[in-house]
Amino acid sequence: MVKVLFVCLGNICRSPTAHAVFEYKVAKQNLGHSFEVDSAGTAAHHINQPPDKRSQREAKQRGYDLSRLRARQVTASDFSDFDYILAMDAENLGSLRKSCLPQYLHKVALFLPYGGGAEVDVPDPYYGGEEGFSHVLDLVELASDGLLDEIIKQRRLQ
Ligand code: 4NP
Repeated sequence: MVKVLFVCLGNICRSPTAHAVFEYKVAKQNLGHSFEVDSAGTAAHHINQPPDKRSQREAKQRGYDLSRLRARQVTASDFSDFDYILAMDAENLGSLRKSCLPQYLHKVALFLPYGGGAEVDVPDPYYGGEEGFSHVLDLVELASDGLLDEIIKQRRLQ
């Protein structure tokens, strides 16, 4: 079982989007039995809340259902439990690295570079307009494809 955790600040916009998109792509490749996917936030403000309505709407337009997800905060056990812990931006990467024991640091990385582009951060859309949420979906879809390809190669899943 490969365990993948997506992490942003609030766990209501970017990481639940990545959670649902990546899970969808895993299922499409018939690899659902090989993966466990989850998401969490570095901050505690939105614990137990469903994803932001704007993220839900944008995702739904592209065929992803975020409605069943609920926000939670990253826990100490996540670092031992998960194999890939992927931060949506450099700030969240920094927070994760600070609370991670040295033996698990190799699991913690930025998510977007898996998309193969030059950008490293999935920008926080929370205080912006609708186009920010659409941009998050574009970036997340791209990086999810790259991440899944990479894990399939590393774990020889196909
Ligand atoms: P997320 O977006 O980290 O992608 O879930 C945010 C959600 C809430 C806040 C900031 C970013 N906030 O400041 O409450």
